[in-house]
Amino acid sequence: MTRLWYGGDYNPEQWDSSVWKEDVDLMRQAGVNLVTVGVFSWSSLEPSPGEYQFGWLDQVLDLLHAGGVSVDLATPTASPPPWFSRLHPEALPVTPDGVRLTHGSRDTYCACAPAYRSAAAGIARALVNRYDNHPALAMWHVHNEYGAVCYCSLAADRFRDWLRERYGSLDRLNAAWTTAFWSQGYADWQDIQPPRSTQYLVNPTQFLDYRRFWSDELLKAFLEQKAEIRERSSLPITTNVVFGGWVPVNHAQWASAVDIVAIDHYPSRTDLGAEEQTAFGADLARSWAGGKPWLLMEQAAGALNDGQRLHAKEPGRMARHSLSHIARGSNGALFFQWRASRGGSEMYHSALVPHAGASSRLFREVADLGSVLPRLEEVADSQVVAEVAVLWDVECWWAMQGTHLPSSSLDYLAAVQDAHRHYWRAGVTVDFAAPSADLSSYKLVVVPSLYLISDEAAASLAAYVEGGGQLVVGYFSGIVDPDVQVRLGGYPGAFRSLLGVRVEEFHPLPADGVVELSSGGQGRLWSEDVEAVSAEVVDRYVGGVLDGKPAITRRQVGAGTAWYVSTSVDSETAAGIFGLSPSEVETVRRRSGSGDTTWTFLFNHGDAEVVVPADGVELISGVAVDGELSLPGGGYAVVRSP
Ligand code: GAL
Ligand code: ZN
Repeated sequence: MTRLWYGGDYNPEQWDSSVWKEDVDLMRQAGVNLVTVGVFSWSSLEPSPGEYQFGWLDQVLDLLHAGGVSVDLATPTASPPPWFSRLHPEALPVTPDGVRLTHGSRDTYCACAPAYRSAAAGIARALVNRYDNHPALAMWHVHNEYGAVCYCSLAADRFRDWLRERYGSLDRLNAAWTTAFWSQGYADWQDIQPPRSTQYLVNPTQFLDYRRFWSDELLKAFLEQKAEIRERSSLPITTNVVFGGWVPVNHAQWASAVDIVAIDHYPSRTDLGAEEQTAFGADLARSWAGGKPWLLMEQAAGALNDGQRLHAKEPGRMARHSLSHIARGSNGALFFQWRASRGGSEMYHSALVPHAGASSRLFREVADLGSVLPRLEEVADSQVVAEVAVLWDVECWWAMQGTHLPSSSLDYLAAVQDAHRHYWRAGVTVDFAAPSADLSSYKLVVVPSLYLISDEAAASLAAYVEGGGQLVVGYFSGIVDPDVQVRLGGYPGAFRSLLGVRVEEFHPLPADGVVELSSGGQGRLWSEDVEAVSAEVVDRYVGGVLDGKPAITRRQVGAGTAWYVSTSVDSETAAGIFGLSPSEVETVRRRSGSGDTTWTFLFNHGDAEVVVPADGVELISGVAVDGELSLPGGGYAVVRSP
């Protein structure tokens, strides 16, 4: 039976065993049905090399099972114990500056160190040997948030092997990396290093290749553990990926290696931006999962953290965020962590059971949500309906991080978030898609700042338009190929003929600069000297050096249309051009496989009550809805309609 999972990371090794019984009682009270155990338990499981201590975990798993709580059992490999670092100092990671880190936090290991890899496989094997038959187990959770990068000599060796495989010869590598510039030509593989700290700008292709390599290397490390587990267990195996600028993982590529895509999500904004970020993260996760169900493995129960301070979540907000993830395809809502720590590095991180204990507003809300989720279980496994796709490509993001760009305001992630926001504000659900994906099911595809694109992807986008698609290409797209080399002859290289435009020069704007458009809208950050070769001009620049020149163009191609937007437009301007109307109510539709049933998730992000058209049954209240439904400020509802 498919269910919606509810619970989170449970780290009982921090607590005296007398607390465990109360934990399980409270979990039952809260409707918790899944906890992740063991994520950072290596030193408790193997206090000295080869000496395992499983007794405490046996007890914990038995207690959970007796309480009806399933377990997502983790391998603890994101945090090797102190003895490991003492015995294998070469497995401590080295920063780009050449500083070797010391044990004392977590994630302090080098994924390229053979000692680390075999120890990681070893502890995974020990766990599966002991627990493969434990009745509490529902899922395996390998590692935690793969991400830590290293620049040591072991990593350099692996990097060279990876490069040999990618390029075959130094000639091809030299050509791809444009090493003739600045005397970087390589005559010996041994001379190639990771992109460590250097005098001035780093080689952009070397930088991008290191990112590609590191993602591949971490994936190998994951697959080694997965293989150990798969030998004895047929349960689903996953790893929780996190999304962030520091995470060198190609999530979309990793998705095919896991049995269910799992993400951690911690908004960094505290205003309505947190809701927008929630939708963004969830839509990305669904795209990585190829539209199939995925799982929100971690979020914070009680507080948003903007990096400066905690902001307690207002009443109802924790449930709203959880339901927003579920609306967008998550088969549940899990949290870090079950019980707030008394000490240790994250003792002020919120939890399902706060420091105040179960007698608290937070825990009451946790228990409320736990009672609501079983009423929504019928939505699990249904399909999210989206007619708009926004392209997302991690290599493009990495390339823009590693290249000396024509403006420091160019920011791939921000451009993608802007595009997502235009539709989110209008209540339109968006899928993310890879540039080379089959996009024929979408009415509209938006391409924000796709700086790097392959010939194949460009051809597939052209075919999408020919076949009747609407394509909106944003500024600074199609500029370089996968070797980070400029496509010559005029920007936007890969899209020039499809869009029917040619750009000779960029005109980046000052960080706070604004350019007026003839439609009355505004452009920011960026502008270009656009020549409409075979495109119709939709909007023009007003004033300044580009006065009267095209800013936005449109071209009929086959049965479709290709638009070019050569500046960064805000949501109001985008709404004006593309006919979107702002909505305070976020609406996400899901449809059953047969198409017979639709579930509509509604979230009122405003303070005032709104009345929306709806028919069917509201699942949280169980009340029939006939024609209209009223949602109080901050309210939410899930309506099943035939
Ligand atoms: C996650 C991590 C958890 C915990 C959490 C705090 O990234 O997996 O272990 O540190 O952040 O927000
Ligand atoms: Zn290393």
